[in-house]
This record gives sequence, structure tokens and C-alpha cells, in this order.
Amino acid sequence: MATVTVQPSGVRFSADDGQTIMAAAETAGYRWPTICGGNGECLVCHVEVLEHPECLAPPSDTEAKAVQGLSGDHGGRGDHVRLACQAAVNGDVVVRKRGVRNRRKGPAT
Ligand code: FES
Repeated sequence: MATVTVQPSGVRFSADDGQTIMAAAETAGYRWPTICGGNGECLVCHVEVLEHPECLAPPSDTEAKAVQGLSGDHGGRGDHVRLACQAAVNGDVVVRKRGVRNRRKGPAT
């Protein structure tokens, strides 16, 4: 069991080993931004990993190609961009993502 922390809201939830960030959030009662529903196609779910990128399973070739245009220092979102619907959690991580909402209470500030 690992903990995923989402900044800047401070939302925090548990993830089973191997569960994706997005699946863990939904299990915990949060709505994660998506258009494709978690199929790795829309990129809307992407996160910047702020701490412990090594605690996520390595990206598949498909995911690595998908996030290529989103990462990097020049207009990108840092070096560690992942798709929340594809990235499996193996340890505690901190990610940056806006728009993660508690399904019961509305916006998580
Ligand atoms: S939810 Fe669409 S790419 Fe992850």
C-alpha cells in the first residue's frame, strides 16, 4: 500500500501495489480529469511527478511517446510527466495535478 499526494490541493489517497494513480483516486472517491476514460488516448489525465518518480512503474512505449510533447523545460511540465491512467504505483509519490475533485464534496480547493 502506498500513498499518492496531489499538489497543490493536498489531496491524499492510498494505492494498492500496481494500481494506477487514476484508479486509486477513483477508488478513494475522487474524480480524475479524463476524456478517454483511462485508455491512454486523451492525455488529459497527465501529471508532473514532483517526488519519487522511481516509485512508479516504467512507462510503456506507448505512454512514453504520448507524453513526449508534454515534458521538458521549454514550455513543458518538467522531466517526469506521466499519464495517471497508465502509471502504476509501487511506492509513495507526490504529483502535481489540478482538477482532482472529491465526488462527494465537489472541488478539492
Ligand atoms: S485518461 Fe485519457 S490518457 Fe489517461
